[in-house]
Amino acid sequence: MTNPYLWWRDGVIYQIYPRSFADSNNDGLGDLPGITARLDYLAHLGVDAIWLSPFYPTPDVDFGYDISNHCEVDPRFGTLSDFDDLVREAHRRDIRVVLDLVLNHTSDQHPWFAESRASRDNPKRDWYIWQPRPNNWQSVFGGKGWEYDEQTGEYYFHMFVKEQPDVNWRNPQVRQAQLDVVRFWLGRGADGFRLDVFNAYFKDEQLRDNPPKFGLRGFDRQKHIYDIDQPEMMPLLAELREILDASPEKYAVGETFIASPATAAGYCGPDKLHAAFNFDFTLRPYNPAAFRDAIQKWDQVAGQQVWPNYVLSNHDQPRTATRYCRGEDDSRAIVVMAMLLTLRGTPFLYYGEELGLRDISLARHEILDPPGKRYWPFYKGRDGCRAPMQWDASPNAGFSGATPWLKVHPNYVHRNAAAQQADPDSLFNITRQLIALRRAYPSLRCGRLDFLEAPGGLLAYTRTDGREKLTVVLNFSGRKHNYRPEGKPVFVSPGGEAQIYSSTG
Ligand code: GLC
Repeated sequence: MTNPYLWWRDGVIYQIYPRSFADSNNDGLGDLPGITARLDYLAHLGVDAIWLSPFYPTPDVDFGYDISNHCEVDPRFGTLSDFDDLVREAHRRDIRVVLDLVLNHTSDQHPWFAESRASRDNPKRDWYIWQPRPNNWQSVFGGKGWEYDEQTGEYYFHMFVKEQPDVNWRNPQVRQAQLDVVRFWLGRGADGFRLDVFNAYFKDEQLRDNPPKFGLRGFDRQKHIYDIDQPEMMPLLAELREILDASPEKYAVGETFIASPATAAGYCGPDKLHAAFNFDFTLRPYNPAAFRDAIQKWDQVAGQQVWPNYVLSNHDQPRTATRYCRGEDDSRAIVVMAMLLTLRGTPFLYYGEELGLRDISLARHEILDPPGKRYWPFYKGRDGCRAPMQWDASPNAGFSGATPWLKVHPNYVHRNAAAQQADPDSLFNITRQLIALRRAYPSLRCGRLDFLEAPGGLLAYTRTDGREKLTVVLNFSGRKHNYRPEGKPVFVSPGGEAQIYSSTG
């Protein structure tokens, strides 16, 4: 029998950026015991899984996405035994744990790279991509993708900063070692993985130059046909899937790097990934036609075989409320939250999205993120969306007893979890109700989605499963309307901007 409630398909996945969630030892950085201590909050919100951004040892050039040991916990974030506690406590609350695996590159401080760069004949030389002369590939974070290494007189490739050398997935020993990392965390109780830039693992075997295209920055001035999306990825995904499928209900979602929804869908299937991110929503303006278009496009390419997913924000994008809301008014955040939680596809929430957290603004000298430092003032980097979670109105928003690694948004005195939990009309409680509705109504989770023709400024659709039918009406216009679909209301947001009606067909 097929599972009527499969956590990664039917549930809500909540992304935690560990260094900013909760600090248990007052060093200004969040940590694993901090997360464990806040699991009751997440259980109360109703999420089914947490995805943890990297907590592995790291020199922090790319804030954890430069890893120097894949099978350890950075002492600043805790220990392996803290990880075990977190998994045990999460499972006790029926919350699954998804880990972020960064297998495209390592830190240049990783022992593999230390060996690889030691000499041209080191047994690990070929674990990275070394060349006597660079080709035209660029780094996403700016500048050339190749770094000259004085000691051995060759260049190594790095898709991101130079402290993040790309590994050579074509080497069978690398493949083995990387898949051992997957096995290691499965053995410690992980339920699944988010694969960082997985579609960049393989590069063209002959390292051919990318052809040019129009764009502003070097990286955008190339068609990425040789440095990402290579065919060798497919057999690797099949092998990974076999490892996952050896235990029940394990999961992998890939971060499809600069990919169209069609490319993302192409990576999903029974012998590929369970899911690949479609970031289309993060690019859309606050406009019902724009979202309708994004949903239709995704449905077209996903078909019935691929289960969709929806993301409004993550640690690489300005937050949802920052993009859409005006000042401290949450009505737009309510509309898009109601949309996210009533679509056909797994919703991903980013920590604090349920509170409508806004990005912090930083002066130039406060910027930590490498691309922000490089491209200021044209691009200010990703620090803004990574600020500490706002738990309560106490100093540092209840995040830490010490000065946090990034400053807290000054609105924490009124915008925080404690205040919103106590207010029935808050975005937190709206989010909580919507998650509960998603659990209660199978049509909201897996029903067919049909758009309705509604007056301008509204987005309206039905979700139908057998005889159960729900109609969702989202008012993007900010003005009152008198559109009233059939059925009885089962949810009306306090300002009326999001409404759900139930009727039985
Ligand atoms: C992914 C991560 C991003 C990181 C990059 C390099 O895009 O989401 O935060 O900087 O990979 O690992």
